[in-house]
Amino acid sequence: MSSMPSPLNPPAKAVVDGTAPDLGLPAQACLFAGALDPCTIVIFGASGDLTSRKLMPALYNLFLSQAWPQPCGVVGVARTPWRREEFQNKMHAAVASQKNYDPQKWQEFAQGLAYFAIDYESLAAFQGLRAFLEELDARQGTAGNRLFYLAVPPSLYQTIGQQLGQVGLAQEQTGGQGWARIVVEKPFGRDLASAVALNATLHQSFQEQQIFRIDHYMAKETVQNILICRFANAIFEPLWNRNFIDRVGIIAAEKIGVEHRAGFYEQAGVLRDMFQNHMMQLLALIAMEPPARFVAEQVRDEKVKSFRSLKPLGGPDLAANLVLGQYGPGVIDGANVPGYRQEPGVSPASLTPTFAAMRLFIDNWRWRGVPFYLASGKRLPQKLTQLIIHFKEVPHSLFDMIGLEAIAPNRLILGIQPEEKITLTFQTKNPGATVCLREVTMDFHYYQNYHGPIMDAYEKTLIDVMQGDQMLFWRQDGVEVCWSFFSPVIEACESCAIPEEFIHSYAAGTWGPTTAQTMMNRLAAL
Ligand code: NDP
Ligand code: BG6
Repeated sequence: MSSMPSPLNPPAKAVVDGTAPDLGLPAQACLFAGALDPCTIVIFGASGDLTSRKLMPALYNLFLSQAWPQPCGVVGVARTPWRREEFQNKMHAAVASQKNYDPQKWQEFAQGLAYFAIDYESLAAFQGLRAFLEELDARQGTAGNRLFYLAVPPSLYQTIGQQLGQVGLAQEQTGGQGWARIVVEKPFGRDLASAVALNATLHQSFQEQQIFRIDHYMAKETVQNILICRFANAIFEPLWNRNFIDRVGIIAAEKIGVEHRAGFYEQAGVLRDMFQNHMMQLLALIAMEPPARFVAEQVRDEKVKSFRSLKPLGGPDLAANLVLGQYGPGVIDGANVPGYRQEPGVSPASLTPTFAAMRLFIDNWRWRGVPFYLASGKRLPQKLTQLIIHFKEVPHSLFDMIGLEAIAPNRLILGIQPEEKITLTFQTKNPGATVCLREVTMDFHYYQNYHGPIMDAYEKTLIDVMQGDQMLFWRQDGVEVCWSFFSPVIEACESCAIPEEFIHSYAAGTWGPTTAQTMMNRLAAL
Protein backbone atom coordinates (compact mmCIF):
# COMPACT_ATOMS: atom_id res chain seq x y z
CA MET A 1 0.00 0.00 0.00
CA SER A 2 2.81 2.40 0.82
CA SER A 3 3.93 2.20 -2.79
CA MET A 4 0.60 3.60 -3.93
CA PRO A 5 1.23 6.87 -5.75
CA SER A 6 0.19 9.88 -3.75
CA PRO A 7 -2.74 11.94 -4.98
CA LEU A 8 -0.35 14.87 -4.69
CA ASN A 9 1.82 13.49 -7.44
CA PRO A 10 -0.17 13.35 -10.64
CA PRO A 11 1.76 11.82 -13.53
CA ALA A 12 2.34 15.21 -15.11
CA LYS A 13 5.60 15.58 -16.95
CA ALA A 14 5.72 19.29 -17.50
CA VAL A 15 4.37 22.36 -15.81
CA VAL A 16 2.83 25.29 -17.58
CA ASP A 17 3.39 28.18 -15.24
CA GLY A 18 0.11 29.96 -14.66
CA THR A 19 1.79 33.11 -13.40
CA ALA A 20 -0.52 36.05 -13.88
CA PRO A 21 0.61 39.63 -14.18
CA ASP A 22 0.79 41.31 -10.81
CA LEU A 23 -2.31 43.44 -10.83
CA GLY A 24 -0.92 45.61 -8.11
CA LEU A 25 -3.83 45.01 -5.76
CA PRO A 26 -2.91 46.60 -2.46
CA ALA A 27 -2.17 43.87 0.09
CA GLN A 28 -4.63 45.48 2.47
CA ALA A 29 -7.47 45.44 -0.07
CA CYS A 30 -9.24 42.38 1.33
CA LEU A 31 -8.47 42.88 4.99
CA PHE A 32 -11.15 43.57 7.50
CA ALA A 33 -11.89 47.27 7.44
CA GLY A 34 -15.07 47.61 9.49
CA ALA A 35 -15.41 48.41 13.16
CA LEU A 36 -16.08 45.66 15.66
CA ASP A 37 -18.26 46.24 18.69
CA PRO A 38 -16.43 46.49 21.99
CA CYS A 39 -16.76 43.10 23.66
CA THR A 40 -15.49 40.54 26.14
CA ILE A 41 -14.39 37.16 24.83
CA VAL A 42 -15.00 34.49 27.46
CA ILE A 43 -13.20 31.21 26.81
CA PHE A 44 -14.41 28.18 28.76
CA GLY A 45 -11.68 25.53 28.82
CA ALA A 46 -8.93 28.18 28.94
CA SER A 47 -6.43 25.73 30.42
CA GLY A 48 -6.84 23.36 27.47
CA ASP A 49 -5.19 22.45 24.21
CA LEU A 50 -7.48 24.32 21.82
CA THR A 51 -7.06 27.56 23.74
CA SER A 52 -3.26 27.43 23.70
CA ARG A 53 -2.77 26.05 20.22
CA LYS A 54 -5.44 27.88 18.26
CA LEU A 55 -7.52 30.44 20.09
CA MET A 56 -4.88 32.49 21.88
CA PRO A 57 -2.55 32.77 18.86
CA ALA A 58 -5.57 33.76 16.77
CA LEU A 59 -6.63 36.43 19.26
CA TYR A 60 -3.09 37.78 19.49
CA ASN A 61 -2.88 38.00 15.69
CA LEU A 62 -6.18 39.83 15.53
CA PHE A 63 -4.87 42.22 18.17
CA LEU A 64 -1.83 42.92 15.97
CA SER A 65 -4.03 43.49 12.95
CA GLN A 66 -6.77 46.08 12.62
CA ALA A 67 -9.49 43.53 13.35
CA TRP A 68 -9.67 44.04 17.08
CA PRO A 69 -12.56 45.53 19.01
CA GLN A 70 -11.84 48.68 20.97
CA PRO A 71 -12.01 48.01 23.83
CA CYS A 72 -11.80 44.23 24.13
CA GLY A 73 -11.21 41.94 27.11
CA VAL A 74 -10.39 38.23 27.09
CA VAL A 75 -11.45 36.16 30.10
CA GLY A 76 -10.13 32.63 30.49
CA VAL A 77 -12.44 30.33 32.46
CA ALA A 78 -11.59 26.82 33.67
CA ARG A 79 -11.57 24.70 36.82
CA THR A 80 -7.80 25.00 37.29
CA PRO A 81 -7.28 27.42 40.19
CA TRP A 82 -4.88 29.80 38.43
CA ARG A 83 -4.24 33.38 39.37
CA ARG A 84 -4.43 35.94 36.58
CA GLU A 85 -0.62 36.03 36.24
CA GLU A 86 -0.43 32.26 35.85
CA PHE A 87 -2.99 32.36 33.07
CA GLN A 88 -1.09 35.20 31.38
CA ASN A 89 2.15 33.23 31.63
CA LYS A 90 0.56 30.14 30.08
CA MET A 91 -0.87 32.20 27.25
CA HIS A 92 2.46 33.93 26.79
CA ALA A 93 4.06 30.53 26.27
CA ALA A 94 1.42 29.79 23.64
CA VAL A 95 2.18 32.92 21.65
CA ALA A 96 5.90 33.58 22.22
CA SER A 97 7.06 31.05 19.64
CA GLN A 98 5.11 32.75 16.85
CA LYS A 99 7.06 34.54 14.13
CA ASN A 100 5.25 37.80 14.72
CA TYR A 101 5.75 37.81 18.49
CA ASP A 102 6.60 41.27 19.77
CA PRO A 103 7.27 41.62 23.55
CA GLN A 104 5.94 45.19 23.64
CA LYS A 105 2.73 44.28 21.84
CA TRP A 106 2.36 41.20 24.01
CA GLN A 107 2.44 43.39 27.14
CA GLU A 108 -0.35 45.54 25.73
CA PHE A 109 -2.38 42.47 24.74
CA ALA A 110 -1.82 40.77 28.09
CA GLN A 111 -3.28 43.73 29.96
CA GLY A 112 -6.66 42.67 28.56
CA LEU A 113 -6.35 39.05 29.79
CA ALA A 114 -8.24 38.05 32.91
CA TYR A 115 -8.96 34.67 34.50
CA PHE A 116 -11.90 33.24 36.41
CA ALA A 117 -11.72 29.80 38.05
CA ILE A 118 -15.07 28.02 38.02
CA ASP A 119 -16.96 24.95 39.18
CA TYR A 120 -19.24 24.18 36.23
CA GLU A 121 -21.90 22.55 38.40
CA SER A 122 -22.27 25.53 40.72
CA LEU A 123 -24.88 28.17 39.94
CA ALA A 124 -23.24 30.45 42.49
CA ALA A 125 -20.00 30.22 40.52
CA PHE A 126 -21.80 31.39 37.36
CA GLN A 127 -23.39 34.21 39.34
CA GLY A 128 -19.85 35.12 40.38
CA LEU A 129 -18.82 35.03 36.71
CA ARG A 130 -21.65 37.38 35.83
CA ALA A 131 -20.58 39.85 38.53
CA PHE A 132 -16.97 39.54 37.32
CA LEU A 133 -18.00 40.33 33.71
CA GLU A 134 -20.18 43.24 34.78
CA GLU A 135 -17.34 44.69 36.76
CA LEU A 136 -15.06 44.33 33.70
CA ASP A 137 -17.67 46.01 31.50
CA ALA A 138 -17.83 48.94 33.87
CA ARG A 139 -14.04 49.20 34.04
CA GLN A 140 -13.23 48.56 30.36
CA GLY A 141 -16.29 49.93 28.58
CA THR A 142 -17.09 46.64 26.82
CA ALA A 143 -20.79 47.53 26.70
CA GLY A 144 -22.12 44.14 27.84
CA ASN A 145 -21.28 42.45 24.49
CA ARG A 146 -20.07 38.92 25.18
CA LEU A 147 -18.72 36.08 23.09
CA PHE A 148 -18.75 32.78 24.99
CA TYR A 149 -16.45 30.16 23.47
CA LEU A 150 -16.92 26.54 24.58
CA ALA A 151 -13.39 25.10 24.27
CA VAL A 152 -14.29 22.29 26.68
CA PRO A 153 -15.10 18.60 26.28
CA PRO A 154 -18.52 18.19 24.60
CA SER A 155 -19.97 16.66 27.79
CA LEU A 156 -19.93 20.18 29.26
CA TYR A 157 -21.73 22.05 26.46
CA GLN A 158 -25.20 21.54 27.89
CA THR A 159 -24.22 22.36 31.47
CA ILE A 160 -22.49 25.58 30.50
CA GLY A 161 -25.31 26.62 28.14
CA GLN A 162 -27.88 26.06 30.89
CA GLN A 163 -25.88 27.82 33.58
CA LEU A 164 -25.31 30.86 31.38
CA GLY A 165 -29.06 30.99 30.79
CA GLN A 166 -29.86 30.61 34.49
CA VAL A 167 -27.76 33.57 35.51
CA GLY A 168 -29.00 35.80 32.68
CA LEU A 169 -25.76 35.82 30.70
CA ALA A 170 -27.51 34.53 27.56
CA GLN A 171 -29.95 37.41 27.62
CA GLU A 172 -29.42 40.09 24.96
CA GLN A 173 -30.29 43.72 25.41
CA THR A 174 -32.41 45.39 22.77
CA GLY A 175 -30.92 47.95 20.38
CA GLY A 176 -27.87 46.06 19.06
CA GLN A 177 -25.65 46.50 22.10
CA GLY A 178 -25.42 44.00 24.91
CA TRP A 179 -25.25 40.98 22.58
CA ALA A 180 -24.46 37.46 23.78
CA ARG A 181 -23.13 34.84 21.34
CA ILE A 182 -22.07 31.29 22.07
CA VAL A 183 -19.54 29.38 19.98
CA VAL A 184 -19.87 25.62 20.19
CA GLU A 185 -16.93 23.52 19.04
CA LYS A 186 -17.37 20.31 17.12
CA PRO A 187 -18.42 17.58 17.63
CA PHE A 188 -22.02 18.78 17.81
CA GLY A 189 -23.51 15.62 19.30
CA ARG A 190 -22.32 12.05 18.80
CA ASP A 191 -25.41 10.92 16.88
CA LEU A 192 -28.71 12.34 15.71
CA ALA A 193 -30.49 12.00 19.06
CA SER A 194 -27.72 13.67 21.08
CA ALA A 195 -27.38 16.50 18.53
CA VAL A 196 -31.11 17.18 18.79
CA ALA A 197 -30.92 17.09 22.61
CA LEU A 198 -27.91 19.42 22.72
CA ASN A 199 -29.62 21.86 20.42
CA ALA A 200 -32.80 21.80 22.50
CA THR A 201 -30.80 22.58 25.65
CA LEU A 202 -28.92 25.45 24.04
CA HIS A 203 -32.18 26.84 22.75
CA GLN A 204 -33.57 27.01 26.29
CA SER A 205 -31.10 29.86 26.83
CA PHE A 206 -30.02 31.11 23.39
CA GLN A 207 -31.84 32.05 20.18
CA GLU A 208 -30.61 30.49 16.93
CA GLN A 209 -28.90 33.71 15.77
CA GLN A 210 -26.83 33.63 18.99
CA ILE A 211 -25.47 30.11 18.36
CA PHE A 212 -22.31 29.58 16.25
CA ARG A 213 -21.52 25.91 15.53
CA ILE A 214 -17.94 26.14 14.44
CA ASP A 215 -16.20 24.01 11.83
CA HIS A 216 -12.78 25.49 11.23
CA TYR A 217 -12.51 23.83 7.79
CA MET A 218 -15.12 26.24 6.45
CA ALA A 219 -12.91 29.19 7.37
CA LYS A 220 -9.75 27.94 5.67
CA GLU A 221 -8.95 30.38 2.85
CA THR A 222 -8.73 27.66 0.23
CA VAL A 223 -12.04 26.16 1.35
CA GLN A 224 -13.76 29.55 1.14
CA ASN A 225 -12.22 29.83 -2.31
CA ILE A 226 -14.15 26.81 -3.64
CA LEU A 227 -17.37 28.77 -4.08
CA ILE A 228 -15.49 31.70 -5.58
CA CYS A 229 -13.82 29.37 -8.04
CA ARG A 230 -17.15 27.81 -8.98
CA PHE A 231 -19.39 30.85 -9.06
CA ALA A 232 -17.14 33.77 -9.98
CA ASN A 233 -15.91 32.06 -13.16
CA ALA A 234 -18.03 31.22 -16.16
CA ILE A 235 -15.82 28.39 -17.41
CA PHE A 236 -16.28 25.77 -14.69
CA GLU A 237 -19.98 25.75 -13.92
CA PRO A 238 -21.25 24.54 -17.33
CA LEU A 239 -19.06 21.43 -16.87
CA TRP A 240 -19.86 20.94 -13.20
CA ASN A 241 -22.34 18.08 -13.47
CA ARG A 242 -22.89 14.42 -14.31
CA ASN A 243 -22.54 15.05 -18.04
CA PHE A 244 -18.88 16.02 -17.77
CA ILE A 245 -17.67 14.80 -14.38
CA ASP A 246 -16.84 11.14 -13.95
CA ARG A 247 -16.19 11.17 -10.20
CA VAL A 248 -15.07 13.38 -7.35
CA GLY A 249 -12.38 12.63 -4.76
CA ILE A 250 -12.04 14.29 -1.38
CA ILE A 251 -9.10 13.40 0.80
CA ALA A 252 -8.10 14.73 4.22
CA ALA A 253 -4.99 12.80 5.19
CA GLU A 254 -3.08 13.44 8.40
CA LYS A 255 0.38 12.39 9.39
CA ILE A 256 -0.25 12.86 13.10
CA GLY A 257 -1.70 10.12 15.26
CA VAL A 258 -4.20 10.52 18.06
CA GLU A 259 -1.61 12.43 20.15
CA HIS A 260 -2.87 13.18 23.66
CA ARG A 261 -6.56 13.11 22.66
CA ALA A 262 -7.33 9.44 23.30
CA GLY A 263 -10.04 10.31 25.84
CA PHE A 264 -11.99 12.10 23.14
CA TYR A 265 -10.97 10.02 20.13
CA GLU A 266 -11.77 6.63 21.65
CA GLN A 267 -15.38 7.80 21.90
CA ALA A 268 -15.41 9.41 18.47
CA GLY A 269 -13.37 7.67 15.77
CA VAL A 270 -12.79 9.06 12.32
CA LEU A 271 -16.42 9.09 11.14
CA ARG A 272 -17.53 11.37 13.97
CA ASP A 273 -14.29 13.34 14.14
CA MET A 274 -13.77 14.15 10.43
CA PHE A 275 -16.59 12.87 8.23
CA GLN A 276 -19.80 14.09 9.86
CA ASN A 277 -18.43 17.64 9.84
CA HIS A 278 -15.30 18.66 7.87
CA MET A 279 -15.68 16.14 5.04
CA MET A 280 -19.39 16.93 4.67
CA GLN A 281 -18.62 20.64 4.34
CA LEU A 282 -16.07 19.96 1.61
CA LEU A 283 -18.58 17.73 -0.15
CA ALA A 284 -21.31 20.38 0.06
CA LEU A 285 -19.09 23.07 -1.45
CA ILE A 286 -18.47 20.86 -4.49
CA ALA A 287 -22.03 19.57 -4.76
CA MET A 288 -24.29 22.51 -3.89
CA GLU A 289 -26.30 24.59 -6.31
CA PRO A 290 -25.54 28.31 -6.61
CA PRO A 291 -27.48 30.31 -4.03
CA ALA A 292 -29.51 33.27 -5.27
CA ARG A 293 -27.20 35.58 -3.33
CA PHE A 294 -24.00 35.11 -1.38
CA VAL A 295 -25.55 35.55 2.05
CA ALA A 296 -25.42 33.22 5.03
CA GLU A 297 -28.93 31.78 5.01
CA GLN A 298 -29.03 31.20 1.27
CA VAL A 299 -25.62 29.54 1.17
CA ARG A 300 -26.59 27.35 4.13
CA ASP A 301 -29.94 26.48 2.47
CA GLU A 302 -28.11 25.18 -0.58
CA LYS A 303 -25.69 23.12 1.50
CA VAL A 304 -28.54 21.50 3.39
CA LYS A 305 -30.31 20.70 0.10
CA SER A 306 -27.25 18.80 -1.08
CA PHE A 307 -27.03 16.89 2.23
CA ARG A 308 -30.69 15.94 1.80
CA SER A 309 -29.84 14.33 -1.54
CA LEU A 310 -27.25 11.97 -0.05
CA LYS A 311 -28.19 8.42 -0.92
CA PRO A 312 -28.43 6.48 2.35
CA LEU A 313 -25.60 4.06 2.85
CA GLY A 314 -26.42 0.80 4.48
CA GLY A 315 -27.68 -2.73 4.21
CA PRO A 316 -25.73 -5.17 2.05
CA ASP A 317 -24.11 -2.26 0.15
CA LEU A 318 -22.32 -0.92 3.21
CA ALA A 319 -19.20 -3.08 2.94
CA ALA A 320 -18.82 -2.22 -0.75
CA ASN A 321 -18.98 1.48 -0.02
CA LEU A 322 -17.11 1.88 3.24
CA VAL A 323 -13.74 0.65 4.46
CA LEU A 324 -12.64 1.41 8.00
CA GLY A 325 -9.13 1.02 9.32
CA GLN A 326 -7.00 1.45 12.41
CA TYR A 327 -3.30 2.22 12.30
CA GLY A 328 -0.82 -0.26 13.65
CA PRO A 329 2.86 0.38 14.38
CA GLY A 330 4.81 1.76 11.45
CA VAL A 331 7.29 4.32 10.24
CA ILE A 332 6.66 8.04 9.74
CA ASP A 333 9.47 10.27 8.46
CA GLY A 334 11.95 7.50 9.11
CA ALA A 335 10.98 7.08 12.77
CA ASN A 336 9.14 4.15 14.32
CA VAL A 337 5.75 5.14 15.72
CA PRO A 338 3.39 3.08 17.89
CA GLY A 339 0.10 1.69 16.69
CA TYR A 340 -3.17 3.23 17.82
CA ARG A 341 -3.73 0.53 20.43
CA GLN A 342 -0.35 1.31 21.98
CA GLU A 343 -1.06 5.06 22.29
CA PRO A 344 -1.50 6.42 25.85
CA GLY A 345 -5.10 6.23 26.99
CA VAL A 346 -6.21 3.85 24.21
CA SER A 347 -7.62 0.44 25.07
CA PRO A 348 -5.32 -2.39 23.87
CA ALA A 349 -8.44 -3.97 22.34
CA SER A 350 -9.82 -0.76 20.88
CA LEU A 351 -12.01 -1.01 17.77
CA THR A 352 -12.04 2.73 17.13
CA PRO A 353 -11.43 3.47 13.44
CA THR A 354 -8.71 5.98 12.60
CA PHE A 355 -9.21 5.71 8.81
CA ALA A 356 -12.22 5.59 6.53
CA ALA A 357 -12.67 5.48 2.77
CA MET A 358 -16.21 5.87 1.55
CA ARG A 359 -18.13 6.00 -1.71
CA LEU A 360 -21.19 8.23 -1.70
CA PHE A 361 -23.83 9.21 -4.21
CA ILE A 362 -25.88 12.38 -4.36
CA ASP A 363 -29.21 11.60 -5.87
CA ASN A 364 -30.23 14.77 -7.66
CA TRP A 365 -30.35 16.11 -11.22
CA ARG A 366 -26.80 17.42 -11.15
CA TRP A 367 -25.02 14.44 -9.61
CA ARG A 368 -27.08 11.28 -10.08
CA GLY A 369 -24.69 8.38 -10.74
CA VAL A 370 -21.46 10.30 -10.03
CA PRO A 371 -19.49 8.61 -7.24
CA PHE A 372 -17.92 10.79 -4.58
CA TYR A 373 -14.93 9.06 -2.97
CA LEU A 374 -14.03 10.37 0.48
CA ALA A 375 -11.05 9.31 2.56
CA SER A 376 -9.54 10.55 5.78
CA GLY A 377 -7.20 9.00 8.26
CA LYS A 378 -4.50 9.49 10.83
CA ARG A 379 -0.91 8.31 10.50
CA LEU A 380 -0.97 8.39 6.71
CA PRO A 381 2.26 9.26 4.88
CA GLN A 382 1.59 12.97 4.57
CA LYS A 383 -0.68 15.82 5.57
CA LEU A 384 -2.84 16.37 2.53
CA THR A 385 -6.28 17.84 1.98
CA GLN A 386 -7.38 17.92 -1.65
CA LEU A 387 -10.51 17.86 -3.75
CA ILE A 388 -10.11 16.22 -7.13
CA ILE A 389 -12.64 16.64 -9.90
CA HIS A 390 -12.14 13.89 -12.45
CA PHE A 391 -13.66 14.84 -15.78
CA LYS A 392 -14.88 12.26 -18.28
CA GLU A 393 -12.68 10.91 -21.02
CA VAL A 394 -12.88 12.42 -24.49
CA PRO A 395 -15.70 10.64 -26.34
CA HIS A 396 -13.42 9.36 -29.08
CA SER A 397 -9.65 9.17 -29.51
CA LEU A 398 -8.25 10.49 -32.79
CA PHE A 399 -4.90 9.13 -31.83
CA ASP A 400 -5.44 5.38 -31.94
CA MET A 401 -2.81 5.19 -34.72
CA ILE A 402 -0.18 5.98 -32.09
CA GLY A 403 -1.61 3.47 -29.71
CA LEU A 404 -3.67 5.95 -27.71
CA GLU A 405 -7.04 4.28 -27.46
CA ALA A 406 -7.61 6.03 -24.16
CA ILE A 407 -6.44 9.50 -23.22
CA ALA A 408 -5.97 10.45 -19.59
CA PRO A 409 -8.97 12.58 -18.65
CA ASN A 410 -8.66 16.13 -17.30
CA ARG A 411 -8.53 16.70 -13.59
CA LEU A 412 -9.10 19.85 -11.58
CA ILE A 413 -7.35 19.58 -8.22
CA LEU A 414 -8.24 22.00 -5.46
CA GLY A 415 -5.38 21.83 -2.99
CA ILE A 416 -6.55 22.88 0.47
CA GLN A 417 -3.45 22.11 2.52
CA PRO A 418 -0.50 22.05 2.89
CA GLU A 419 -0.15 23.20 -0.72
CA GLU A 420 -2.81 25.80 -1.35
CA LYS A 421 -3.29 25.65 -5.07
CA ILE A 422 -5.49 24.89 -8.02
CA THR A 423 -4.13 22.54 -10.67
CA LEU A 424 -5.70 21.68 -14.01
CA THR A 425 -4.29 18.73 -15.89
CA PHE A 426 -4.65 18.58 -19.64
CA GLN A 427 -3.10 17.05 -22.75
CA THR A 428 -0.63 18.76 -25.05
CA LYS A 429 1.52 17.71 -27.95
CA ASN A 430 4.97 16.67 -26.93
CA PRO A 431 7.47 18.74 -28.97
CA GLY A 432 8.96 16.74 -31.84
CA ALA A 433 8.37 15.44 -35.34
CA THR A 434 5.83 12.79 -34.36
CA VAL A 435 2.51 13.03 -32.57
CA CYS A 436 2.93 12.20 -28.93
CA LEU A 437 0.68 13.42 -26.17
CA ARG A 438 1.83 14.46 -22.76
CA GLU A 439 -0.19 15.43 -19.73
CA VAL A 440 0.79 18.78 -18.25
CA THR A 441 -0.56 20.89 -15.45
CA MET A 442 -1.53 24.51 -15.14
CA ASP A 443 -0.89 25.55 -11.56
CA PHE A 444 -2.15 28.47 -9.56
CA HIS A 445 -0.65 28.91 -6.12
CA TYR A 446 -3.04 30.63 -3.81
CA TYR A 447 -0.65 33.23 -2.45
CA GLN A 448 1.01 33.90 -5.80
CA ASN A 449 1.43 37.67 -6.24
CA TYR A 450 0.04 38.27 -2.78
CA HIS A 451 2.28 39.81 -0.19
CA GLY A 452 -0.14 40.75 2.58
CA PRO A 453 -0.94 39.06 5.86
CA ILE A 454 -2.59 35.64 5.85
CA MET A 455 -5.55 34.97 8.08
CA ASP A 456 -5.80 31.67 9.93
CA ALA A 457 -9.17 29.88 10.07
CA TYR A 458 -9.68 30.60 13.77
CA GLU A 459 -8.99 34.33 13.25
CA LYS A 460 -11.62 34.41 10.53
CA THR A 461 -14.21 32.60 12.63
CA LEU A 462 -13.62 34.86 15.63
CA ILE A 463 -14.14 37.95 13.47
CA ASP A 464 -17.31 36.45 12.01
CA VAL A 465 -18.75 35.73 15.45
CA MET A 466 -17.95 39.27 16.58
CA GLN A 467 -19.80 40.50 13.50
CA GLY A 468 -22.69 38.06 13.96
CA ASP A 469 -22.11 36.51 10.51
CA GLN A 470 -23.12 32.84 10.43
CA MET A 471 -22.10 32.05 6.84
CA LEU A 472 -19.16 29.83 7.86
CA PHE A 473 -20.95 28.00 10.67
CA TRP A 474 -23.18 24.93 10.70
CA ARG A 475 -26.91 25.40 10.90
CA GLN A 476 -28.82 22.88 12.97
CA ASP A 477 -30.81 21.43 10.08
CA GLY A 478 -27.53 20.64 8.29
CA VAL A 479 -26.12 19.01 11.42
CA GLU A 480 -29.22 16.85 11.74
CA VAL A 481 -29.38 15.78 8.09
CA CYS A 482 -25.73 14.74 8.24
CA TRP A 483 -26.29 12.82 11.44
CA SER A 484 -29.32 11.11 9.82
CA PHE A 485 -26.92 9.92 7.16
CA PHE A 486 -24.05 8.91 9.47
CA SER A 487 -25.82 7.60 12.60
CA PRO A 488 -27.12 4.38 10.97
CA VAL A 489 -23.74 3.79 9.32
CA ILE A 490 -21.86 4.20 12.60
CA GLU A 491 -24.43 2.09 14.42
CA ALA A 492 -24.11 -0.71 11.87
CA CYS A 493 -20.32 -0.68 12.21
CA GLU A 494 -20.33 -0.52 16.00
CA SER A 495 -22.85 -3.34 16.36
CA CYS A 496 -21.05 -5.66 13.94
CA ALA A 497 -20.56 -9.08 15.53
CA ILE A 498 -17.30 -9.76 13.68
CA PRO A 499 -15.16 -6.62 14.07
CA GLU A 500 -12.49 -7.81 11.62
CA GLU A 501 -15.15 -7.56 8.91
CA PHE A 502 -15.37 -3.83 9.24
CA ILE A 503 -12.11 -2.62 10.70
CA HIS A 504 -8.84 -3.36 8.93
CA SER A 505 -5.37 -2.74 10.22
CA TYR A 506 -2.87 -0.62 8.30
CA ALA A 507 0.73 0.19 9.09
CA ALA A 508 1.34 3.78 10.15
CA GLY A 509 2.94 5.63 7.27
CA THR A 510 0.93 3.87 4.53
CA TRP A 511 -2.18 4.99 2.66
CA GLY A 512 -4.64 2.91 4.69
CA PRO A 513 -5.73 -0.75 4.61
CA THR A 514 -5.14 -2.70 1.41
CA THR A 515 -8.91 -3.32 1.30
CA ALA A 516 -9.33 0.41 0.65
CA GLN A 517 -6.85 0.52 -2.21
CA THR A 518 -9.40 0.38 -5.04
CA MET A 519 -11.32 3.27 -3.54
CA MET A 520 -8.13 5.24 -2.87
CA ASN A 521 -7.07 4.71 -6.49
CA ARG A 522 -10.41 5.93 -7.79
CA LEU A 523 -10.23 8.92 -5.46
CA ALA A 524 -6.76 9.97 -6.41
CA ALA A 525 -6.64 9.62 -10.15
CA LEU A 526 -4.89 6.52 -11.00
P1 NDP B 1 -8.94 19.54 26.40
O1 NDP B 1 -9.01 18.08 26.65
O2 NDP B 1 -7.60 20.18 26.37
O3 NDP B 1 -9.88 20.21 27.50
C1 NDP B 1 -10.08 21.61 27.65
C2 NDP B 1 -10.25 21.93 29.12
O4 NDP B 1 -11.47 21.41 29.59
C3 NDP B 1 -9.18 21.32 30.00
O5 NDP B 1 -8.06 22.16 30.06
C4 NDP B 1 -9.87 21.18 31.33
O6 NDP B 1 -9.76 22.40 32.03
C5 NDP B 1 -11.33 21.02 30.97
N1 NDP B 1 -11.75 19.63 31.12
C6 NDP B 1 -11.17 18.55 30.59
N2 NDP B 1 -11.85 17.44 30.95
C7 NDP B 1 -12.87 17.85 31.72
C8 NDP B 1 -13.91 17.20 32.38
N3 NDP B 1 -14.06 15.88 32.32
N4 NDP B 1 -14.79 17.96 33.07
C9 NDP B 1 -14.66 19.28 33.15
N5 NDP B 1 -13.67 19.96 32.53
C10 NDP B 1 -12.79 19.24 31.82
O7 NDP B 1 -9.77 19.84 25.08
P2 NDP B 1 -9.34 20.63 23.78
O8 NDP B 1 -8.87 21.98 24.19
O9 NDP B 1 -8.50 19.78 22.94
O10 NDP B 1 -10.74 20.73 23.02
C11 NDP B 1 -11.79 21.54 23.47
C12 NDP B 1 -12.98 21.37 22.52
O11 NDP B 1 -12.60 21.77 21.23
C13 NDP B 1 -13.43 19.91 22.42
O12 NDP B 1 -14.82 19.90 22.28
C14 NDP B 1 -12.78 19.43 21.14
O13 NDP B 1 -13.52 18.41 20.53
C15 NDP B 1 -12.81 20.71 20.30
N6 NDP B 1 -11.78 20.74 19.29
C16 NDP B 1 -10.46 20.67 19.65
C17 NDP B 1 -9.47 20.75 18.70
C18 NDP B 1 -8.04 20.72 19.07
O14 NDP B 1 -7.20 20.86 18.16
N7 NDP B 1 -7.69 20.57 20.34
C19 NDP B 1 -9.81 20.89 17.25
C20 NDP B 1 -11.22 20.99 16.99
C21 NDP B 1 -12.15 20.92 18.00
P3 NDP B 1 -9.90 22.49 33.63
O15 NDP B 1 -9.61 21.16 34.20
O16 NDP B 1 -8.91 23.55 34.00
O17 NDP B 1 -11.31 22.92 33.81
C1 BG6 C 1 -10.14 18.44 14.14
C2 BG6 C 1 -10.11 16.99 14.50
O1 BG6 C 1 -11.46 18.89 14.02
O2 BG6 C 1 -9.49 18.62 12.89
C3 BG6 C 1 -8.69 16.48 14.56
O3 BG6 C 1 -10.72 16.84 15.77
C4 BG6 C 1 -7.96 16.78 13.27
O4 BG6 C 1 -8.65 15.10 14.82
C5 BG6 C 1 -8.12 18.24 12.91
O5 BG6 C 1 -6.59 16.48 13.47
C6 BG6 C 1 -7.57 18.50 11.52
O6 BG6 C 1 -7.58 19.87 11.29
P1 BG6 C 1 -6.53 20.54 10.30
O7 BG6 C 1 -6.93 21.97 10.25
O8 BG6 C 1 -5.18 20.32 10.91
O9 BG6 C 1 -6.65 19.81 9.01
